[in-house]
Formats: sequence, C-alpha cells, structure tokens
Amino acid sequence: MTSIRTIRAALRFASVLTLFCTVALAQLSRIETGTEAWLRYPALTAQAAQSYQSLPSHIVMFGDSGSLKTAEQELVRGVAQMLGETLQEDGRSSPQNAIVLGTLSQLHVMVPALHPAQELRSDGYWLKATKIHGSRSLIVAAANDRGVLYGVFALLSKMARGESLAHIDEVQQPYAPVRWVNQWDNLDGRIERGYGGPSIFFSDGKVRSDLMRAGEYARLLASIGINGCTINNVNAAPGVLEDSFIAQVGRIADVFRPWGVQLSLSVDLSSPKVMGGLETFDPLDPRVGEWWRKKVDEIYQHIPDFGGFVVKADSEGRLGPSTYGRTPADAANVIARALKPHGGVVFYRAFVYNHHLDWNDLKNDRAKAAYDNFHPLDGAFDDNVIIQIKNGPIDFQVREPASPLFAGLHRTNESIELQITQEYTGQQRHLCSLVPMWKEVLNFDMRINGNATPVKDLVAGRVFHRPVGGFVGVANVGMDADWLGSPLAMANLYGFGRLAWDPQLSAERIVEEWTRLTFGSDPLVVKTVSAMQLSSWNIYESYTGPLGAGTLTNITGNHFDPGPESSEENGWGQWHRADHVGIGMDRTVATGTGYIGQYPAEVQKLFEPLNRCPDNLLLFFHHVPYTYVLHSGKTVIQHVYDSHYDGADRARDFIAQWQTLSGHIDQERYSDILARLQYQAGEAVVWRDAICNWIYRLSGIPDAKSRVGK
Ligand code: GCU
Repeated sequence: MTSIRTIRAALRFASVLTLFCTVALAQLSRIETGTEAWLRYPALTAQAAQSYQSLPSHIVMFGDSGSLKTAEQELVRGVAQMLGETLQEDGRSSPQNAIVLGTLSQLHVMVPALHPAQELRSDGYWLKATKIHGSRSLIVAAANDRGVLYGVFALLSKMARGESLAHIDEVQQPYAPVRWVNQWDNLDGRIERGYGGPSIFFSDGKVRSDLMRAGEYARLLASIGINGCTINNVNAAPGVLEDSFIAQVGRIADVFRPWGVQLSLSVDLSSPKVMGGLETFDPLDPRVGEWWRKKVDEIYQHIPDFGGFVVKADSEGRLGPSTYGRTPADAANVIARALKPHGGVVFYRAFVYNHHLDWNDLKNDRAKAAYDNFHPLDGAFDDNVIIQIKNGPIDFQVREPASPLFAGLHRTNESIELQITQEYTGQQRHLCSLVPMWKEVLNFDMRINGNATPVKDLVAGRVFHRPVGGFVGVANVGMDADWLGSPLAMANLYGFGRLAWDPQLSAERIVEEWTRLTFGSDPLVVKTVSAMQLSSWNIYESYTGPLGAGTLTNITGNHFDPGPESSEENGWGQWHRADHVGIGMDRTVATGTGYIGQYPAEVQKLFEPLNRCPDNLLLFFHHVPYTYVLHSGKTVIQHVYDSHYDGADRARDFIAQWQTLSGHIDQERYSDILARLQYQAGEAVVWRDAICNWIYRLSGIPDAKSRVGK
C-alpha cells in the first residue's frame, strides 16, 4: 500500500516537474526566440531586487474597465517574474501600503491633497511614491484608464532596467494624440513588404480563428504607448467591408481593446461600386455619401471603439476621386462625415503620384507630387481628416529630405508616416536602426515664417493648433516568433513607439533602453549592442546609397538587391539620372524640376545653392559631374568608391563586435544574430562591387586607390 502511494506521489511529482519544466522551457524559448521582445521581465539579481524591497504588497484599483484590469494583471505578472513576489489583488480600498491604480479624479475622492506637477492630458500618467497616512504607497494615476496601463508599463520597464522607484515623482504625457501602426496585411495571409512571416490577423481570406498573437501584439504596442492599429494593406481589398467580414474583424478589435489599441481599416474608395452595388463611387453623389454612412454605422455596431479608415487613392493603380474629376478633399470628407458622429477619423495618404510620368522630360519629378496635390487643398479637409505624409517626398529611401508638405498644410491635420519594416533598408536581413534617421526628419526645422517649426511639432498639431495629428509607423509584424523576422530589427518597432510618445528622446537613450530590456544590463552588452545599432543606418547608407542618391536597389523588383539601372528610364520615378558625365537629380528652382521651391524660403536657401547643400543630400537635389568636389574635399566619384569600401568594412566589423558578446547572452540569440551579421557582411561586398563597377563603367574614372574595375 505504502509503496503504491509512494509510486503515485512520485509519479505526480514527476508530472508536475515535467509540466513545470515544459512551462519554464516554453517561457525560455519565448524569450530566446524573441516573442517576449522587450517585455521579458527576467528575474532580477538579488542585488537589483533589493531596490524594490519596499515595494507595496497590495494593489488597490479604482474602477474595473478592461484597460484597468489589464494594467493590474500586467503589474502582477511583471512583479512576479522579476521579484518572485505575488502582489495581492484583494479588492481592498485603502491606499496604504498599496500600488494604487486609477484615474486622477478617482484618486482625489480618496486622497484629495495629491496633485501632479502638471495637468494630465489624455493618455498621460503620473508615477508617484508617497506616504498616505504614514505608510508607503506608489501611485499610478492618469487622465484616463489607458493612461494607467501606460503608467504600469513604464513602472515595469524602470524595474527591468534597475531604476529606483523610491522617490519617483514623474509625469509623462504623449506628444500627440495619434500614435498608430499600419499593417499591410492581405486577407490571404500574406503581408506586403512584410519580412516576419504570414499575417497574425488573416489567413485564406478570413480572420484567423486563433488570435493569440494579435492579442500579444496589442500588448507590445500598448507597452510603448501605441493606441491604434490599421490591420490591412493600404492596397485594400474591398472585401473588408463585406458585412460578414466586419463581424469577423470585430473579434480582432475584441483582443485589442483590453490593451487600449483602437482598430482601424484600410478601405478602397471604389467600394460603394465594386462591392456595394452602386453604379458609382463619386464622392459627391448623395447615394455614395449615404452608402458610407450606413456602412460606418454597421461597423460601429460591431466595434464601438472603431478608430477609422486609412485611404490610399489615385496612387499606384488604386482608383480614386480623379475618376470623377473630384479632389482628395471631396473623397476624404464624404467618409469623414460618416465617421464623425462616432468619433472616427480618416487618414488620407498623401502618397498620390503619377507613375506614368515621361522620364525623358527632365522637369518631371515624382518628388513634387504630394505637395502639388495637397497644398492647394489646405483648409478644405474636415477636422476629422488627417493627411498621412511619408517622411520623405519619394518612398522610404535610405536618405531623403523631409517632405515639404509638412510645412505646406496650415489649416489641415497631418501625421507623419514612417516605415518600420525595412523595405528599402535591408528587409530585416541587414542591421539598420532607423531611429537616428527618424530623429533627423522629426527635428528638421522647416523655418516657417522664419520661426523654429520642426517636423515633430507640425505633425503633432502644435504649430497651427490642429485638433488631431501625430505619428504612424508601417510595422508589418508577422507570425515569426520574433515578430519582424529579426531580433535586432525589433529596436525599430520599440523606437517608433518611444518617438511617437516623445520625439524629444535621444536615439542613444531609446536604443539603450531597448537593449537593456531585450538583452539585460550587462555593461558590455549594452555598450556593444547600442553602438552597433546607432552606427548601422550610416553604414547601410554608405554601401547602398551615399550622397542622397537614394537606395540604388532593384526598384522594379525586390527592393533589396543592388539594381541602380532599374530605377531610371521608366515612369515609376525620377531618381539619379546617372550618365557618363555626372549623376544626381537637378531639383533646383533655377535649372531643375523646381522641387526645392516647395520648401519655406529659409530651407530653399539651404538646398538651392550647390555650395551650401549638405553632402549627404547632394545628389537628391543637384546633378553634378563625377569630378565635383564635396565639402569633404573629395570628388563625388572618389566618395562613392570610398564610401562603399568603408561601409563594407564596417559591416564586416559588426561580426567582431558581436563576437565579444559570446557568453554574455543566451546561445540561441547569439548564434542567430551572428549568422545574420555574417550574411550582411557578404551582402555588403556584393553591394560594394555592384555599385562601384556600375559607376566606374559609366564614368570611366578610376578609383584613386585602385580597388575598382580590376
Ligand atoms: C511602396 C511599396 C508598396 C506600397 C506603397 C505605399 O511603394 O513598395 O508596396 O504599397 O509604398 O506606401 O502605398
């Protein structure tokens, strides 16, 4: 009898042990494969944990909304993982010795005397260590419940990075109301320009039955303050607006909601005709207005917190208002009016251009299109329309100047569209941290009327006091364990969210935060990974497209391999106009396409005179002979040769830098990233040789260091 009981107990112990090991291994593998991204919450060392000894042991929560419950669960989870302690959620209401979660107004009912240093705006939060009736409390208060959730994530992030909470008194406010991501997911499960596996939302024309990843994605987004997600491709399938599909989409909104992420859809403007049964989609036809109104009402029945629509029209073959001689304002407003009573918005993309331009005409210039199309309509858009403007005037190249349209809309809401997925910047197979690039464009000063008017303030609506605006990132995560298809690329998603929340943060700070959260705080790891990330954009640029020539990728094909000839002599764009004498696009007012004339006067003075134009954008603005001497003292041709050799060398150096981390991070991620860096080093040589040989063949000018053309 005893022995049977012993055997049973042993078996039970074994099965519990197996379960424990399986869970632990699964957790470990989620960490090592990158699924947890920057939300790993690893157990703190005994020394690090000491700083949190006086952390209150209870949670007191005012309210029971979905976001608050999520905040509470996240707090319990994070503290359990990092400190091995279970916070008590015993429903008590006394704020003593408690972490207090709630809105400021709820807190004031209990403790009227507590006030943050500044008034909290929507989604802003206040973290405050204080004593209430003589015992310690930690307050996470916000203007709204979503702000409380953000405050909890901020608290956990500080703990994971070892920051003390003992005397914390910190207010954080978002820079702008719009902090959204766009996913370019197709309903069949593929993702346009996605490099991280198939869609987490759709498969085979339907919403996936298992939306676990969609919920995990919403958690990641919430942790960096992102409050909206457009789930389908801007090249939208009209089918998303079918009644049966809307009901399915409602399930995605349900998994987003607890994380405060609003769902929105990309829509095809021709929907009233192609799937709605009307004979027209003319935005000024009353039947079309009525169709949109009914459709929107139906959506809100399924998704009461629906965010709105993204529209790509009259662009790259998409139908649009030009079919009926109508303007983008006509089209945007008819949809905006349907959304208005529900609080929804329309993001109308400024990426409208003619891809059949005659390339023989040297005055033609795709870069001018956004401004030419939208500037004349300034003031014609309803106040719940936001013009979504790509950071540069072309299309997410490795370096472009800031789009002049940011300065061209004074009576219209705007948002900046940044590309997190690395379409033209190495497709996640090359390390290329985009945070420094985004910082440059956000800080670019448009000098409107001679005043400081950086792009970040224009898009946030601060310059012209617009009601809504902000930041949109094209993310394109997929089913791959590490979301973007590369662990290091996740710094771009993290960085986008942090900049959307606070564009004043430095690239160094953002990258360091991400590194600590992703790999831990070993000083060698933090120093090495941060340095690699921060230099990587510059390195990628130097072997793919220096001097503002644009990424010389295969533009008509995969947007990845070198293909400098592919971009010329077709209608899709005007890029570098390289011939046997010189290279570059003349976009000057004096002799070129006139593009520079779209900028405010002071900015024109920076780019128009050849001798003032910064070297790194020279070929974007000017056509020069290969022998033109740069500010650096080098000729253009020698710079192109040197830059490619230097870039390829520096890409190879990444390998040695990474190898110093052997034994400092887990083997799985170490080996995975090492293999990627080795691949990148090889690709950089391919790029170097392709571009150097191409330009040598064209120019006939040898490399002063005799490396090219042998
Ligand atoms: C790029 C990209 C397309 C995308 C387009 C857009 O051109 O290659 O895939 O549809 O941008 O932003 O609409």
